[in-house]
Amino acid sequence: MANENEKNEPIVLDIFSRYSAPRRPIKVVPFVEVFGWQPEDGDGKDIDVRVERFVKPIPGMTPEINENFILDRVAVHSILSAFIRRRPLALVGLHGSGKTEHVEQVLARLNCELISLDLTEDTDVFDMIGEKKLDGNSTVWCDGPITQGFREGIPVLFNEMDYPRPGVMSKGNGYLHGQRLTLEGNGNEIVIRHQDTMFFGTGNTQGDGDHSVSLAFSGASPQNAATMSRWRKHVKEYPNVDIECEIISKACPDVPSDIVKTMVANLASDTRDAYKAGGLRVPMGTRELVMMAEVIEDTGGDLAASFKECFFNGIGDPAQQETAASAFQHAFGIDLIPVPDAAGNGAS
Ligand SMILES: Nc1ncnc2c1ncn2[C@@H]1O[C@H](COP(=O)(O)OP(=O)(O)O)[C@@H](O)[C@H]1O
Ligand SMILES: [Mg+2]
Repeated sequence: MANENEKNEPIVLDIFSRYSAPRRPIKVVPFVEVFGWQPEDGDGKDIDVRVERFVKPIPGMTPEINENFILDRVAVHSILSAFIRRRPLALVGLHGSGKTEHVEQVLARLNCELISLDLTEDTDVFDMIGEKKLDGNSTVWCDGPITQGFREGIPVLFNEMDYPRPGVMSKGNGYLHGQRLTLEGNGNEIVIRHQDTMFFGTGNTQGDGDHSVSLAFSGASPQNAATMSRWRKHVKEYPNVDIECEIISKACPDVPSDIVKTMVANLASDTRDAYKAGGLRVPMGTRELVMMAEVIEDTGGDLAASFKECFFNGIGDPAQQETAASAFQHAFGIDLIPVPDAAGNGAS
């Protein structure tokens, strides 16, 4: 995004005024005020970057700011850069790594509305584009979320963009970059693209099928390569240990910091290693860690109950249960699966 600028003039990220007059009143504010860090050049010198944002949010349409959310700088820069250029951006990565919430939290800080769509294997083109619906004795056309975003210039977020059948997503070959959207179901009405139209997506796969070791992302279909080529792709990894500890401590301040550190640096890390080695179908994500911390708070510190509720109880395969239990024993020194004694007592 921002480059060093010899005249020392501020760099303005003209998100809403680059291609046309802004559709709502905007204000230019220092980047640090919106996102919480001061952009620097390669030598560590501050750069005066400012960013346009809408003056007011639209209640019900603009995502709410989550003060506990910790923005990842690289992800934010990728989201802003794609947004400024109006290039569709897919955030790709394991579950619970903050893909969806990064898009929401960036737009929340810009006071910008967002239309979110949760796609499934059953999602059809008409769910996204619109359809005729009965109104008394006649039918009326109802815009789908994509058509609404396209007409009004509201960003659209496709969650689980790798779930629908490829033909459904291929409708995007026209509207993702095009200037017009043809509504075949509405007498071929042509909708002209609003200049602010933007598409974000999230997915556990890159859109080329499930290549996870354990085929954990059942339902993800290989999408059409021409469709996927229209998307920029940002890989969202789990945060590093310090950041993930900060996320958990912000969400659940009553959990002692040494427990938080062990949850992240030992327990989650072991499940992630086991996942990579094929010993677990899925690793613990940041979401599970936050939920586990909540149970720890609510039970006054019951580590075993929290791990069971938030991760272990989702595992049916006995071999994988052993792996997860051994990660937990390694981290906290507590046996989850009672080891039978010589008489066979204690087996669960
Ligand atoms: N950077 C973060 N800051 C705070 N919480 C986070 C962060 N990343 C993930 N989380 C936690 O994990 C949850 C899952 O995030 P989400 O965006 O839904 O993941 P994804 O879309 O990648 O599956 C969030 O609701 C939050 O509890
Ligand atoms: Mg998501």
